[in-house]
Amino acid sequence: MKLNIAVLPGDGIGPEVTAQAVKVLKAIAMEFGHIFTFNKALVGAAAIEKTGSALPEETVSICKKADAILFGAIGSAKYDMDPDAEVRPEHGLLGLRKSLDLYANIRPVIAYEDLLNKSSLKIKQIRDTNILIYRELTGGLYFGEKKLTNDSASDICEYSRFEIERIAHMAFKAAQTRKGKLTLVDKANALATSRLWRKVVQEMATQYPDVKLNFLYIDNAAMELIINPRQFDVILTENMFGDILSEEASVIVGTIGLLASASINEKHAMFEPIHGAYGKFANKGVANPIASILSAAMLLDHFGLDKEAALVRKAVHKSLKLHITTPDLNMKYDNISTTKVGDFIEDFINNPEETNLNFKNIHLGQSTII
Ligand code: IPM
Ligand code: MN
Repeated sequence: MKLNIAVLPGDGIGPEVTAQAVKVLKAIAMEFGHIFTFNKALVGAAAIEKTGSALPEETVSICKKADAILFGAIGSAKYDMDPDAEVRPEHGLLGLRKSLDLYANIRPVIAYEDLLNKSSLKIKQIRDTNILIYRELTGGLYFGEKKLTNDSASDICEYSRFEIERIAHMAFKAAQTRKGKLTLVDKANALATSRLWRKVVQEMATQYPDVKLNFLYIDNAAMELIINPRQFDVILTENMFGDILSEEASVIVGTIGLLASASINEKHAMFEPIHGAYGKFANKGVANPIASILSAAMLLDHFGLDKEAALVRKAVHKSLKLHITTPDLNMKYDNISTTKVGDFIEDFINNPEETNLNFKNIHLGQSTII
């Protein structure tokens, strides 16, 4: 298969982790005889510094022409502390989501058996958690009309039936291929937009009689997600609630450094780790590249490259099992950098049989291989 992939490393740890994902995709292309070409483009604070815009026209045009986009992260402390800044790195990401109409953001949350003790939650509560969050990505508070003066501010939250239906269809269909359960998270006891979500999704349920639909208010869902995450299969929610819930869900997994995502519509697809730029940790070799690498696996899924995606995931699982992980997770070695994790996963893809015995400079005794 030929794929033209736009690569937008962005800010902070974005470039380091994206480089590992590209390395992994190159190894997959080599192993399976695909032709993947990579086109780099500027976004975020990195783009502001070079062009004055967080989302240069050229970047939008490279992304529109690409089959898929691999996104790193955006954000910089300089802008975080300046609420009045007119040009902001986030415009790069939000502008891209909007101009490509990437309305469906899919965020898997999986409790890995080898990492259960990395979560702050009790193992017996989180074991076997496997949730797929469908977050609406181009509407709601993020994109409504905004006003900001010295004394007052407003963000309008608006949703149309069309915007709700198109992502809800995706979420219902996803539930059909999983455990058949869909939870709509809203705030219908307080918000008109949430009441529309509830009405539309209730009406649609008749088209999916095999899906068990239930409803939770966001405040209650935030608690249930921690107390009993296993009750969830597919979660459907609007933009802002999805942002918050998905980051909360990283507590189940043990680190946000493992959470991948896909942002898609019928024409375009972008893949990005859900963590941000974490500028303080940039260029130290400590950033966990797995969220970016798992986002690359979602890219492969998107094009039906199932065997390829499965091999990437197998390599990731192996790295977790052997503790070839960055310091946010590490239980055994203290010198494993972002690049080394990427190297291990690349080696595994090239040669799944031999990688575990003697990986580059890290000598692993037989006892560590389970
Ligand atoms: C995310 C991020 C973004 C969002 C920020 C960087 C604008 O937190 O992708 O979850 O809120 O959508
Ligand atoms: Mn977020």
